[in-house]
Amino acid sequence: MQPTHQSQEKTLVIIKPDGIQRNLVGEILSRYERIGLKLVAMKMMVATPELVRNHYTLDAGWFKATGEKSINAFIDKGMEPPTHNPIELAENVLGKLVTYMTSGPIIVMVWQGAHVVKIVRKIIGGTEPLTSDVGTIRGDYVLDSYELSSNDGRCVRNLVHASGSVSEANNEIKHWFTDNEIMDYKLIGDIVLYGV
Ligand code: CDP
Ligand code: MG
Repeated sequence: MQPTHQSQEKTLVIIKPDGIQRNLVGEILSRYERIGLKLVAMKMMVATPELVRNHYTLDAGWFKATGEKSINAFIDKGMEPPTHNPIELAENVLGKLVTYMTSGPIIVMVWQGAHVVKIVRKIIGGTEPLTSDVGTIRGDYVLDSYELSSNDGRCVRNLVHASGSVSEANNEIKHWFTDNEIMDYKLIGDIVLYGV
């Protein structure tokens, strides 16, 4: 296998404070383990506001994309969004996200495997638990919505964060881990999954 083999792709996953409070750590980890992904880094911490704010602003496009996705979710349900300005909406969300993500311990991890970014997002499900697919973590274990969280003046509680693209993953991994915190090791299962 070449060092650049596709099986070396990595993604960042965070079990958010509600995932820990709901005793879902084992359940979440087991979903990644059983599909064949490899855990290569893991730590538990209470994050600082700076760490969380900088995490969500690593990608300059995050404000526009997140704002538009949220506004469209309101419109799709025939509801009036809190604002029609995506940047304003996302800036408001970010303040609430910082409060939520620093409210208790989180577990930050790096998972590795072929197509890991897409596979992990598939298992997590869409951002809004109300409309996340059945069978996904957000679809099966939590019941929040854009409407409920917005009415209650807080952010959407959806248990897990995962990088949205390979480049986002590379930036997020560097943000939370140093190189020597990322393990490079073999599993017997690697041969079964990737051997020729
Ligand atoms: O986490 P994901 O990549 O699915 O969604 P995002 O659009 O990158 O938003 C990041 C996080 O912000 C979400 O997981 C929610 O916790 C929160 N959020 C929110 O509370 N309200 C919104 N309207 C949009 C996002
Ligand atoms: Mg995202």
